[in-house]
Amino acid sequence: MNRIPLLVANWKMNLNAGEAAKFARAFRELIAPARADLGQRFEIAIAPAYPALDRLGQALEGSGIGLAAQNVHAEPSGAFTGEISISMLEDLGCRYALIGHSERRRIFGETDLAIQAKAKRLEESPVAPILCVGETLGEREAGSTLEIVARQLDTALDGASHGLASRLVVAYEPIWAIGTGRTATPEIAQTVHAAIRKTLIARLGSIASDTRILYGGSVMPSNARELLSQSDVNGALVGGASLDPESFAKIALASLETP
Ligand code: 13P
Repeated sequence: MNRIPLLVANWKMNLNAGEAAKFARAFRELIAPARADLGQRFEIAIAPAYPALDRLGQALEGSGIGLAAQNVHAEPSGAFTGEISISMLEDLGCRYALIGHSERRRIFGETDLAIQAKAKRLEESPVAPILCVGETLGEREAGSTLEIVARQLDTALDGASHGLASRLVVAYEPIWAIGTGRTATPEIAQTVHAAIRKTLIARLGSIASDTRILYGGSVMPSNARELLSQSDVNGALVGGASLDPESFAKIALASLETP
């Protein structure tokens, strides 16, 4: 199995280019003691707001820390005001792009089909998708979590090739845990992640045994180690706690303390 933990910072609409560069300087120093392990025993990527991608990329040069985008458009170019293409992200050296984040689905009305189009386009690109899935509180209380998550995966990955499967990352982010301080218990995370892996294997084949499934939703230094210790939790997608270099460094380093 090749599932080294992946820790991804999702800064959402926070930190400008100058602040991002400042963060990078502090963060590089904080994780310097684990430099030899970076890329070997754990991997880190940061998804800033678009205007900070270039400066952050420069500030991370030579660090081994990857750059990620918070979203991308499926079309290669054209009249899509306010959007950004995959080749633009490639040009900036992005390693990953989030697709289907619940805030994109909920606030901006992105559908499973729109997310599927993005996943398909990313097949032809070195930018790997981090496909986000997760249920609302109502859906959890109705007992339909696994069904919702399986449907999101099935639609987004319909027609996905083997090539995509080898690079795909999935993030399980229960909507009720995002920005609420209410984290899923390690048991809940493991149960849903195991179900996600089953769905992925059914759809993509045994290659999905290696797919990294990240947990997101109020991940903090205090709960990271326990969450990351679950066998199917292969990393974290961190919002609020990733805005502070110290707390994100603590979370990233916690991945080295897991079995
Ligand atoms: P929080 O870590 O702030 O709950 O955000 C999670 C998230 O949405 C990451 O993509």
